[in-house]
Amino acid sequence: MALKDSTEGYGIVSKVLHWGMALLILWQFLSAASRYFFEDTAIEAFFWPTHKTLGVILLVLMFLRLVWALINRSNRPPSVSLLSKTGHWVMYLLVIVIPILALLRQYGSGRTFDVLGLPIFEGFEGEKIQWMLDLGSDFHGELGWILLALIAGHTIMTYVHQKATPKKDVLARMWK
Ligand code: HEM
Ligand code: HEM
Repeated sequence: MALKDSTEGYGIVSKVLHWGMALLILWQFLSAASRYFFEDTAIEAFFWPTHKTLGVILLVLMFLRLVWALINRSNRPPSVSLLSKTGHWVMYLLVIVIPILALLRQYGSGRTFDVLGLPIFEGFEGEKIQWMLDLGSDFHGELGWILLALIAGHTIMTYVHQKATPKKDVLARMWK
């Protein structure tokens, strides 16, 4: 199986990144939903503790995926339409912007922050940085739910293309 992408289909690196991240993103939304709908219940206690750590891991993976997409840019299966191409780039952008907004808010709170034992911010004394808190509070969750809607649309469109006549077998190039 090819490592790199080709015009016929995605290579193993793109496939592992796509499906692996799809699972992690699903978990990320389960944890967000657990907090939004089931605050202070056993459901939140089960899902929520991974949210910040997994969010940072997703940010790192998305950067790697962006670099990989740029390396393979001229050698990928052609997009079905301009809309699908734009949709894919918007999803990239959101998976980068959403965690960055949360990290800004985290920094602005002045609290120490580490991920899997790795120190990310030291924390500081004194006043919190209000604009960072506001940016995170105003946009992190909202853009998060927009991303979820885009992913739902993306999944539905895969089904629509598979069922269309003539069939556009987009699944084969990402799955087989
Ligand atoms: C791709 C990564 C991420 C996604 C898709 C995501 C998505 C979400 C969503 C949908 C919510 C629910 C918002 C609501 O209550 O309406 C949320 C809440 C939250 N997220 Fe994330 N998140 C991500 C990464 C992060 C990271 C890296 C952090 C921390 C460093 C973080 C911290 C929080 C916090 C503290 C809340 C609860 C407060 C709030 O509603 O904003 N998230 N997230
Ligand atoms: C489980 C549901 C999912 C299905 C059925 C699915 C299906 C597909 C298919 C068939 C393709 C190939 C499209 C083409 O070649 O034109 C694709 C590409 C893509 N998908 Fe998904 N996908 C899913 C989840 C996700 C999630 C959660 C994301 C979130 C970021 C995502 C982002 C992308 C992107 C950005 C591409 C373009 C190729 C790339 O850069 O990896 N997909 N998807």
